[in-house]
Amino acid sequence: MSDSLHAPAFSDRDFRTALGRFASGVTVITVHHEDRTHGMTANAFTSVSLEPPLVLVSLDNRSNMHRILPSVRRYGVSVLAEDQEALSNHFAGKTAPGVQAGFTMRDGIPLLDGAVAHFIAEVTEIHPAGDHTLYLARVTYLEWHDRRPLLFYGGHYHNLRVHKGEWGEPESSLFSIGGIDAKGIK
Ligand SMILES: Cc1cc2nc3c(=O)[nH]c(=O)nc-3n(C[C@H](O)[C@H](O)[C@H](O)COP(=O)(O)O)c2cc1C
Repeated sequence: MSDSLHAPAFSDRDFRTALGRFASGVTVITVHHEDRTHGMTANAFTSVSLEPPLVLVSLDNRSNMHRILPSVRRYGVSVLAEDQEALSNHFAGKTAPGVQAGFTMRDGIPLLDGAVAHFIAEVTEIHPAGDHTLYLARVTYLEWHDRRPLLFYGGHYHNLRVHKGEWGEPESSLFSIGGIDAKGIK
């Protein structure tokens, strides 16, 4: 059988573009390793199971986090707030002058201050998956805050626009994706 029969009928670029149509939040995955905090921006974070409470993150096999996680076996997840775009870039290796990250230690795991939600999770399974590795983990701690999240869609940052409810009640509001202050990320 020729190899071309197995080649995907789309380019790498098309694959990325189509995947970019899936809107997500943005997280920073954190670990404490050799007396230092290491953080990495990730949007391939997902809920997996309610009972037991499981989440997963998909890590590029070239990332430092992938090298560290099998030995520390626990990670923090900070779901970024809409004003934390600079921190998202910082923990994706694209820092700008003056960016400062504050952490609070919880159960030995650093969690990023100012986030929308935090989780601490203990790795239960590690699955190699192509050029990435899936880290399935059981949630042992969580908290959330009334802040608005940072969103990622089509390779750009976005935030939620609040619409007044159609029924006139001041409290009833619908959210939709707004494209303000979007900054391109490859
Ligand atoms: C919005 C955004 C989402 C990202 N999501 C992921 C992801 O889910 N998995 C991943 O491996 N890298 C992801 N990255 C890239 C990593 O953050 C980047 O490669 C980082 O520098 C890796 O850090 P480390 O090698 O120091 O651990 C993302 C970057 C951005 C800007």
